[in-house]
Amino acid sequence: MNQNPSNPIGVFDSGVGGLSVLRAMRAQMPEEDVLYFGDQGHVPYGPRPMEQIQHFSEGITRFLLAQNAKLIVVACNAASAAALKFLRAKFPEVPFVGMEPAVKPAAEQTRTGVVGVLATPATFQGALYASVVERFANGVQVLRHTCPGLVGQIEGGDLNGPRTRAILEEALLPMLEQNIDTVVLGCTHYPFVIPLIEEIVGEGVRVIDPAPSVARQVRRLLETGGGKRPAGGVGSLCFFTSGDAETVQALLPPLLGEGGAVGTVRWKSDLEVEMTK
Ligand code: DGL
Repeated sequence: MNQNPSNPIGVFDSGVGGLSVLRAMRAQMPEEDVLYFGDQGHVPYGPRPMEQIQHFSEGITRFLLAQNAKLIVVACNAASAAALKFLRAKFPEVPFVGMEPAVKPAAEQTRTGVVGVLATPATFQGALYASVVERFANGVQVLRHTCPGLVGQIEGGDLNGPRTRAILEEALLPMLEQNIDTVVLGCTHYPFVIPLIEEIVGEGVRVIDPAPSVARQVRRLLETGGGKRPAGGVGSLCFFTSGDAETVQALLPPLLGEGGAVGTVRWKSDLEVEMTK
């Protein structure tokens, strides 16, 4: 694919989670224009069947390509687990970057030999998760928890209230009893509650957010494909949601650290999305 440097990067997630990846991209390549698609109309993806997540991911990809996206970041672990392989086969000319639970660095760095992974059901069911555990866990015990309800709390902007804390304690306290020293965030929503996670697990436990390494991968792919914008200047951000634009607008400053215009889109079918305003 001809990666025209002046074209935008497309980023998508089931909701605001991908903003944790966008935040890392802004830190590393502020000059790039970005189109961000949050599928709030369908959030959460985690409990949905794989095939449905594939359909949504295909529809969003088509939408972003129609706006001239030069590269697509699947900033959602659930969509990466369910659809990354499918998207690469369907759009062979498009460069995609996806999420993969950071089991490898966790297994390399653990001293207790026990690590915890927090992710949604779709991520744990996917072949990608099984394959990283098989390739990299090597004798390390990998505990997992799906934190039911946590994505919804974060979509609602509740990053440290009692309900959010209760969900995290239920996941993390039993892991602490089993002596974890590392927590892998396998859902892009979860980095927004890192301060709360750190409060619960205490100082001796490392929390791994894969967003900076995903942003580095985006940068490398743009550089090798000739699509990287020259450094200097600040690119524009444009947001789309299939949910409520005002809700998303209000969440941008606290989650991303900057705002931007939010347009709304509507799903015509599981596979087709159109702009409404
Ligand atoms: N941010 C998505 C992920 O990384 C959340 C999944 C969901 O919508 O359940 O998996």
